[in-house]
Amino acid sequence: MPRVVLGVCGGIAAYKSAELLRLLKESGHSVTVIPTENALRFVGAATFEALSGEPVSSSVWDGVDSVQHIHIGANADIVVIAPATADFIARASHGIASDLLTNTLLSTKAAVVLAPAMHSQMWEHPATQHNVALLRERGYLVLNPDEGRLTGEDSGIGRLPSPQSILDFVENVLIGTTHSLQGRHIVITAGGTRENWDPVRFLGNRSSGTQGIALARTALAQGATVTLISGAVDVELPSGVTLVRAESAESMLQAVRLAMKEGPDALIMAAAVADFRPVAPLEAKIKKGAGIPSIELALNEDILATATRENPDTVIFGFAAETADSQEQLIAMGREKLAAKGCTALVLNNVHGGGIFGSKDTEIYIIDRLGGQASFTGSKNFAAHAVLAHLSHLLPPLQ
Ligand code: CTP
Repeated sequence: MPRVVLGVCGGIAAYKSAELLRLLKESGHSVTVIPTENALRFVGAATFEALSGEPVSSSVWDGVDSVQHIHIGANADIVVIAPATADFIARASHGIASDLLTNTLLSTKAAVVLAPAMHSQMWEHPATQHNVALLRERGYLVLNPDEGRLTGEDSGIGRLPSPQSILDFVENVLIGTTHSLQGRHIVITAGGTRENWDPVRFLGNRSSGTQGIALARTALAQGATVTLISGAVDVELPSGVTLVRAESAESMLQAVRLAMKEGPDALIMAAAVADFRPVAPLEAKIKKGAGIPSIELALNEDILATATRENPDTVIFGFAAETADSQEQLIAMGREKLAAKGCTALVLNNVHGGGIFGSKDTEIYIIDRLGGQASFTGSKNFAAHAVLAHLSHLLPPLQ
């Protein structure tokens, strides 16, 4: 069972750390919470103790006999600080050991993830930016805060990333970075496209974007630079990616072409691109009284096939959702599609029964044009690891 140390600093977002703690525990981690003294002004120790099942302390003067200030950090598999305040970031960047949490930071060899939260002006202040840069240089994984409503009336950058997205990031780090994507640029498409019919209607599909977004998060956690081209998605978008919105198949094609001009190491087409679009979207809304309308459809360009043709030397992964009766039939259909699309590899899903859409779990088969094959069942997060591990074996060595 991975041992997580959850450091909580004294900011208003401290209340969200209780939710993060709950999610960590539900995912099977053992969690030791170290709140700073100021964090306890926002959330009581009882909350952390009840949710973690362990006593909490802030001071190096508690549990002196067990040498807590060294022991906790030395036994951690990961240290997560959420929220990390400007004051904490400043102390951490200068190696100040003024309380149990900063002592723990100095005594751990585990991965350290910081999720900062503060007012935009504090985040953007050169002192904070300099401290964050220093910590990143030292290998700390400092998330970017989210944008949105701040504590008061105003909005801007500085919100704590959601507990779910911090959990996803932490799990990705814990799973390990044996197939590190440091120095790689990966373009990932996610979600479903929407093809306009009239000003209020479109043709869409059931894709939730979960798998594509999990791929983007995992690639980020493995050190890659990620361009995420997102159609319609039901899940939260990760911070830290270059985000391009592409509503229709046509705009996704343009976005992919533009991204490919930058010479990325790989493209993963996880988006569910509509095969057809209404020939001519209507300017005026179709009225019910005007009888049952019919739609004339045109075939959309195949983005995956086009990208493969235009970038023959780039590693390009496609996804294929098939309704097959057996694993053998699924693989056979996949091999045929792989040959037709010409891409490097295909990730196959059997959608018999429609089960995978929007669900957290999936069953995938990866087939590549070198004859390689792998299969995987589990959460879409773990599937993302399997796909990226397979992909990293097919990448040419870094220059
Ligand atoms: N795809 C694409 N552009 C399209 C349609 C699909 O790039 N216009 C990509 C998807 O992102 C996915 C892969 O192609 O990576 C497979 O899509 P799929 O719909 O299974 O393939 P099709 O060629 O449309 O075959 P089918 O007739 O089985 O629908």
